[in-house]
Amino acid sequence: MRVLLVGFGVVGQSFAELINEEAGMLDHDFGLRPKIVGVVDRHGAAVSPEGLDVQKALGSKKKLGTLEGLGRDTYLEGKSALDVIKELECEVVVESTPTELTRGEPGISHIRAAMKEGRHVICTNKGPLALAMPALMELAHHNEVVFKFSGTVGGGTPVLDFAKKCLEGSRIRSISGILNGTSNFILSKMSTQGAEMKDALAEAQKLGYAEADPTYDIGGFDTACKLVITSNYVLGTSLSINDLDITGITGVSKKDIEAAKAKGKVIKLIGNVDKKAKVSPQEIDAAHPLNVSGTFNAILFDTYPAGEITLVGKGAGGKETASAVLRDLIEIRRSFAR
Ligand code: HSE
Repeated sequence: MRVLLVGFGVVGQSFAELINEEAGMLDHDFGLRPKIVGVVDRHGAAVSPEGLDVQKALGSKKKLGTLEGLGRDTYLEGKSALDVIKELECEVVVESTPTELTRGEPGISHIRAAMKEGRHVICTNKGPLALAMPALMELAHHNEVVFKFSGTVGGGTPVLDFAKKCLEGSRIRSISGILNGTSNFILSKMSTQGAEMKDALAEAQKLGYAEADPTYDIGGFDTACKLVITSNYVLGTSLSINDLDITGITGVSKKDIEAAKAKGKVIKLIGNVDKKAKVSPQEIDAAHPLNVSGTFNAILFDTYPAGEITLVGKGAGGKETASAVLRDLIEIRRSFAR
């Protein structure tokens, strides 16, 4: 299966590494032989219809910050993602450019172009979905392509398909969750080590957890994106991020955290959907199932008749999110075989 990677940051690089590492298993277990035929970053594109040398691409990106180490026959400086999407033959486009929440660009244009060319799309970029999910789902349907975005919620934790497939037949009355690894990492560090917010954020950025624009993390917008995507996918709503009330963690002080602790509580950044959708820092009991630490995410589905069901797992990180992209690729492979 020929794959074009649009965006080659933490997630794109981790995905390239993962399919290289797991080539044997993918072929043996799923009959899946992914071949990366193109990689585009903000400097240019590397393209090879026979398949790129993935190790060389990763090495070049790490050493030079660009793909130019692949050589002049392969690397086209300044070549735009839209041109490559239109010109390069492939079955799947993986869109992992950074989230942008004003217009959802350039992600929305990449996804639209890919679908119009009849390519299946895997997206880890939350902007297009937070702003235009119903329209993009419709476009995928119209062009008869598969549109998957498991990595947009929960990192490697299969939140979306768990709720959609495993809870079939149950009524989901409400959803609440800790959906931003960076904020949870920061609040955990402030609570357990007395860290300052800015230092904990700098560490999260260094570890590759934070968004390119970290105000999306601490301002609650990343949580809001994930809540919109989950609600639309699982509950069939047509929300956009502009429908939500959003408060982030920037107003949470160490004093607030200590005061909560004295009452046997913790402060967490939580997104809720019941009648209304909102994101805010909330005090919960220390024994509450949503009280997870570090970059863990936790999402609680209040269901009828099964009651409360909580899913917990690593919510941020390159390798973790790459595992979600791989699941999506396997699902696309299966849909071919049907
Ligand atoms: N910045 C995001 C987080 C990455 O911290 O959760 C995963 O979506």
